[in-house]
Amino acid sequence: MKGIILAAGKGTRLKPLTDLFPKCLLPVYDEPMICYPLEKLIEAGINEVLVIVRPEEEYLFRKALDNNYRNVKITYAYQYKQKGTADAINIARKYAGNDNVALIFGDNIFDNSIKSSVENFKEGAHLFLRSVQDPERYGIAEIDGEKIKSIEEKPKSPKTNYAVIGCYLYDNTVFEHVKTLKPSSRGELEITDLNNIYAKNNQATYTILNNFWIDAGTVDALVTANLWMKNKTKYPGK
Ligand code: DAU
Repeated sequence: MKGIILAAGKGTRLKPLTDLFPKCLLPVYDEPMICYPLEKLIEAGINEVLVIVRPEEEYLFRKALDNNYRNVKITYAYQYKQKGTADAINIARKYAGNDNVALIFGDNIFDNSIKSSVENFKEGAHLFLRSVQDPERYGIAEIDGEKIKSIEEKPKSPKTNYAVIGCYLYDNTVFEHVKTLKPSSRGELEITDLNNIYAKNNQATYTILNNFWIDAGTVDALVTANLWMKNKTKYPGK
């Protein structure tokens, strides 16, 4: 399985910090933010990773990553326009070849390991869920036994409080499915629309994560992520 990290966002909610640095390179305690999702992939045994960045920011990501992760083959690709989260799959098509892929957002930081899910993954899509207090902010999954029935993106009246976190395992059919997506009302290819194709085909399975997870894309979330990492470092195993 190959890894893909999507790190080409504008970071609007973190301005003016993101006028200076790409969001995914902002500090989270003692490392740039992207190191945490990258280390998740590495820990799961993935040693080839495509990092999708904005072209003008590539040199900054290289500075942060290239010398520090010599045991991983990191490749860079560009997203020229903010075309949506599922656009990562289009960008990664050639890179992936016939392999399955693990896509992770560069601002998602979480504690649980995805190793066993990666090792056991065979086909379809495998998603990771976390119960949250503010389900209106995320993709929210309705589940039925071992499968995901459907996902609603940022619902006004959420049916459950299971947020879909920004980490997804896909078989190689994802490259066919993504071709069928139409831009959403905000003009983007949405990861939730892609996941719903698998859900509709009864091919979307899930793991529920119970430990810390944060989408560090707001100032408050960034502060929370920093404090959490500081405490974790001070009190290992916490
Ligand atoms: O964090 C988990 C959530 O991520 C899921 O629960 C939602 O279902 C999913 O849609 C996504 O929601 P967000 O509102 O957080 O998506 P956002 O537009 O912020 O994009 C996620 C990351 O991908 C972010 O770091 C920016 C980056 N990105 C986004 C777009 C639209 C890109 O690099 N390129 C893009 O074109």
